[in-house]
Amino acid sequence: MSTASSPAAALSFDKVSMQYPDGTLALDGVDLRIAAGEFVSVVGPSGCGKSTLLKLASGLETHTGGEIWVDRSNLGYTFQDATLLPWRTVLPNVELLMELRGVPAAERRRIAMDQIELVGLKGFENHYPKRLSGGMRMRAALARSLALNPGVFMFDEPFGALDEITRERLIDELIALYLRKGFTGLFITHSIPEAVYLSSRVVVMSRRPGRIIAEFDIPFAWPRTPELRYDPEFTRLAGEVSVALRRAIEE
Ligand SMILES: Nc1ncnc2c1ncn2[C@@H]1O[C@H](COP(=O)(O)OP(=O)(O)O)[C@@H](O)[C@H]1O
Ligand SMILES: [Mg+2]
Repeated sequence: MSTASSPAAALSFDKVSMQYPDGTLALDGVDLRIAAGEFVSVVGPSGCGKSTLLKLASGLETHTGGEIWVDRSNLGYTFQDATLLPWRTVLPNVELLMELRGVPAAERRRIAMDQIELVGLKGFENHYPKRLSGGMRMRAALARSLALNPGVFMFDEPFGALDEITRERLIDELIALYLRKGFTGLFITHSIPEAVYLSSRVVVMSRRPGRIIAEFDIPFAWPRTPELRYDPEFTRLAGEVSVALRRAIEE
């Protein structure tokens, strides 16, 4: 039995490569093991294969080399674009994934209302997405994924399109959700401070074809508070990640 299937790993990539049908080699030899309950952020140059990594984990695409181990029956996935159905209000949008799984109507309504409250959207359940701010749409998308109580929750630059204040608030809310629900997190971002603030570990990818070239343990206590951003140790770690990322881009 390989270590990849060790029960402590919630998600593991073992020498994973991905070549798209047109010949593009997106990933080459990605080794990444994420233990249950860890929150890992990935930073890397644009086009290095970060989104590909999540698509492979979720099964949206199939890797061409190596091995991936994850429980796909219990995965959450949130993209930068909240991808809400514009013809549905918040409540049925949050119910969507449960509907697809055949959860009975009364139960899914109850669960959806709980998640809506958890993400701070109570009172907005009958609003259409176009009447919500970008931050509220993202909260609705988070609620939709949370409704399935994912063991592993993956995020592809979810806050990239939001203004800084909204983003910082949502990061704090995401940390609170992480601590409360105890999922394993895999978070893609191009913001180094965001990665360091949010994570128990930050990994840096090389240019395409992507692989992991550096890892940083982030030792700060939970929950994290906004003052952390001004802590010298925070600045030092963010600086180290930044140097590794610059090296990845220049190499
Ligand atoms: N379906 C596809 N077919 C061919 N090439 C693709 C496909 N999807 C992504 N790519 C290419 O694979 C590389 C990695 O893409 P992606 O994972 O989206 O990078 P990132 O998210 O790090 O910006 C890029 O060069 C991209 O153009
Ligand atoms: Mg991407």
